[in-house]
Amino acid sequence: MRSFTLGIIVTLLVLVLGALAFALLGYIPSNANAKPSHMEMRVAMNALDASMDRHAPRLSSPIPPTDANLIDGMKIYTMNCAVCHGTLDNKPSPLEHSFYPPVPQVILHPLDDPEWHLYYAVTTGVRYTGMPSWDTALSEQERWKVTAFLSHLGKLPPAVRDYWKQAYGVSPQPAAMDMKDMDGAGKASSGNH
Ligand code: HEC
Repeated sequence: MRSFTLGIIVTLLVLVLGALAFALLGYIPSNANAKPSHMEMRVAMNALDASMDRHAPRLSSPIPPTDANLIDGMKIYTMNCAVCHGTLDNKPSPLEHSFYPPVPQVILHPLDDPEWHLYYAVTTGVRYTGMPSWDTALSEQERWKVTAFLSHLGKLPPAVRDYWKQAYGVSPQPAAMDMKDMDGAGKASSGNH
């Protein structure tokens, strides 16, 4: 029994030291311009979701989604986020695949996470990715406004869609309507073209 336990301990030690040596001898690639494997993506995304579920407080937004607040959120997005997450002319960011993992293009493919999740991601950032924490760069109000903008992408009111079109020369893109909110999708499509 004793030698069996010893065997387990030695095996674990060898595995840990092996992993450490693998890393310290430089076998883990450092380049960000590569595509993570399907498996790696799956595990990492599930681990991230689980971690956010465990850590993020279920806050509800103190910011009502008024036209003014959504337009403010749009401006905050353009100035701070568009370079990585995609511009409002509906083009993917040229940096999309320059990060490991690649940056989600949230204008072309709106996120369907609840607001508390988005707010937590924006506030705290995402460790080991290029996603910064915005808790010092943006005020709490600004973080809620950009969160409101992102979570209302598929159902922006007409005045906000008009502002978008005037400022960026194109209408919010139809893919932004593949969110499940039928009411929002209906309203959104009426302003298109
Ligand atoms: C320097 C590039 C960069 C900038 C600037 C940036 N992000 Fe990100 N962001 C990333 C990357 C990379 C990820 C992917 C992390 C991952 O795979 O989970 C990400 C992920 C996210 C997520 C999703 C997290 C999740 O749950 O999957 C949200 C929401 C987000 N960013 C919002 C924003 C907002 C809002 C801003 C501007 C205030 C912003 N980001 C600015 C790089 C950036």
